[in-house]
Amino acid sequence: MPENPVKQAAKLLADAAGAVVFTGAGVSTESGIPDFRSPGGVWSRYKPVLYQEFIASAEARKLYWRMKYEGYPDFVKSQPNAAHLALVEIEKMGKLLGIITQNIDGLHHEAGNSPEKIIELHGNNRRVVCLSCGRMLPMEEVIQRIDAGEEAPECTDCGGYLKPATVSFGQAMPEKEMMMAHRCAAACDIFIAVGSSLVVEPAASFPVIAKRNGAALILINLTATPLDPIANIVLHGKAGEILPAVVKNAKLSTNCMN
Ligand code: APR
Repeated sequence: MPENPVKQAAKLLADAAGAVVFTGAGVSTESGIPDFRSPGGVWSRYKPVLYQEFIASAEARKLYWRMKYEGYPDFVKSQPNAAHLALVEIEKMGKLLGIITQNIDGLHHEAGNSPEKIIELHGNNRRVVCLSCGRMLPMEEVIQRIDAGEEAPECTDCGGYLKPATVSFGQAMPEKEMMMAHRCAAACDIFIAVGSSLVVEPAASFPVIAKRNGAALILINLTATPLDPIANIVLHGKAGEILPAVVKNAKLSTNCMN
């Protein structure tokens, strides 16, 4: 009778020295934040604004800020869910090399993982940056200016364009985060990708780098992904149910070994 895949994944985690967890928007849907490519997701309601369009066109900046403004209520009231808390447990087990996240919601910080272990590949939506002078300000402050009628707020210091500190399509990836992600993907002995469609590069290359460097690859996702064929274990279902079950079983088998 083949062992159930949750128990197989738990055993790999229990035996692992250094785990990397890679998260996508599917980890935050159970916190009330819609993902991008599921039916009803963000890209079924808005067209992505490319970075070059944002810079070149006032209309594009208004569209972009409207998308951010309309998504803000879900974002600001979101709380970490059981999947986020399971990653805190993996860190407490002393096994977490790092979290490579595509998410911009800051929920891994809110859940309590150590900031130095959280690699935000696509930035963070809680902060806004002036693209000219680099001034940073809280998203809340800019949302209040949009509430007051501004459509594409500009920097009050220099008049530059204000944009959330996130990475848009066509925008350069953050060098430090890319280097940190590459280093831990190459060093880990287990790589768990959760809640990602694994279709956006360069983020989707990290599971492949880990696998190529000998790590066991575990995929946890509601739906199939292009990397399912190369995974050691594929678990289709809800992150908030599967990840805690894997961690619980890993802790049980670790205790049995002590
Ligand atoms: N549990 C497990 N998986 C889930 C859940 C859930 N509760 N909810 C959704 N999913 C799955 C969906 O089936 C989907 O395959 O999570 C995946 C989310 O995929 P995307 O919406 O494509 O999100 P992500 O992979 O994070 O997108 C990567 O694309 O648009 C850019 O910058 C954006 O960071 C984002 C990047």
